[in-house]
Amino acid sequence: MSKRGITRRNYLTKLGAGAAAAAALTGSGCKNSEETKPAASAEKIADTPPPDHERRIQWWRQAKFGMFIHWGLYSLLGRHEWAMELEGIPVAEYEQLAKQFKPKPNAARDWAKLAKRAGMKYMVMTSKHHEGFCHFDSKLTNYCSPQQGPGRDLAKEYLEAARAEGLRCGFYYSLMDWHHPDGARCATDEQARRRFVDYIHGQIRELCTNYGKLDILWYDVAWPLDAKGWESQKMNDMVLQLQPDIIVNNRNLLAGDFGTPEQEIVAEKVGRDWEACMTMNESWGYHKADDDWKTPKTIVRNLVSCARDGGNYLLNIGPKPDGSIPEESVKILSAVGAWMDKNGSTIYEAERCKVRESAFADFTRKGNTLYIHVYFWPGETVSIGGLQTKVKSAKLLANGKPVDFKQEEFRVQFTGLPAAAPDTPVTVIAVECEAEPSQDMENIRKNRPRRQVGV
Ligand code: GLC
Repeated sequence: MSKRGITRRNYLTKLGAGAAAAAALTGSGCKNSEETKPAASAEKIADTPPPDHERRIQWWRQAKFGMFIHWGLYSLLGRHEWAMELEGIPVAEYEQLAKQFKPKPNAARDWAKLAKRAGMKYMVMTSKHHEGFCHFDSKLTNYCSPQQGPGRDLAKEYLEAARAEGLRCGFYYSLMDWHHPDGARCATDEQARRRFVDYIHGQIRELCTNYGKLDILWYDVAWPLDAKGWESQKMNDMVLQLQPDIIVNNRNLLAGDFGTPEQEIVAEKVGRDWEACMTMNESWGYHKADDDWKTPKTIVRNLVSCARDGGNYLLNIGPKPDGSIPEESVKILSAVGAWMDKNGSTIYEAERCKVRESAFADFTRKGNTLYIHVYFWPGETVSIGGLQTKVKSAKLLANGKPVDFKQEEFRVQFTGLPAAAPDTPVTVIAVECEAEPSQDMENIRKNRPRRQVGV
């Protein structure tokens, strides 16, 4: 996957955003000690999920696959959602876009239909990105869809569309704000901080009060304050009081209900819920010229990797200014959906899987069943080394045909398979084992009998 896009990590690092902000980037996953140090002024902050986590997170653990939607004024520019900052566009100039933003009615219905077709179970739309423009009806600013070009509440349209398809749904909300006058000076001016935090908490209260039951609140970029400055504990308490079933992420610098690795699949420690969020090309917002699209195979492989390690996959679309979805994204997600129709059970019901080594396959597991996801089809025989568990039976998931196998101490071979891959982009062999499958590659290296020198 590309490492070239803008990530919050490199942005915050450049800005010297403070340890707490950077530490929250990958939850517990940070390696750099500078990033993991608590902010000097931070009070003891919650490092465990909010109360009642197990109950609230149940549906999400089974959902596995969600749609992220980045849509805002930046979509009109079509040069990445960071254009305002990266091109140094003056606020007064950028604001003009708000009047020009006139999306077609109910564009979100196509997003929700596509999400469903792709096998996604939930949606998360940007209610306000760093640019500061809000898609929801806010009493706290007129820089919002109902009072600007769209003349209507786009957040509401989106939720209605998602719910009509039976999908769970919630909001992304950026704490960092390039438009609000106090958005930067709040770091050094207490009165500005007070006003700004009241504004942010007030908007979160609006989101959690005016839109019915929300399933997710997805905070983003906490620059330039720390958890104490944001009053993050109070923020989460308010959210959970207004929405007792909601789950929140970790980007307001508290642990939240789940970690958020970005543009990479890095599992959190066992017991911690996590969700890898990724783009389909290199941008979150619509970027006309960005043609670096992932293939459906890459997307399926990513989904498999997340499911193997107990995580979810939140995959992004960046709609055009009128709300339509880039054609490439539709093609990719349709192909992924066709695969999910046949193979979805290997994902939704997956539990953490200990088998992981192969040069042509990845793995998921449900109970004692191992799913071998072959992405480079080797031909008539598929061999897996180091399997420690006795195989009872195997079949091709695509057509239910039984597969012969031969198991020895160091290798199991599945034989008599077709020369060409029976499914695309990934073929699944379902393998019933006697116990939870595990793999030991060390055993091969150390104990596989060796020839004597000279023989
Ligand atoms: C980064 C980017 C942002 C995007 C987000 C999604 O923080 O700043 O544009 O919304 O990642 O995770």
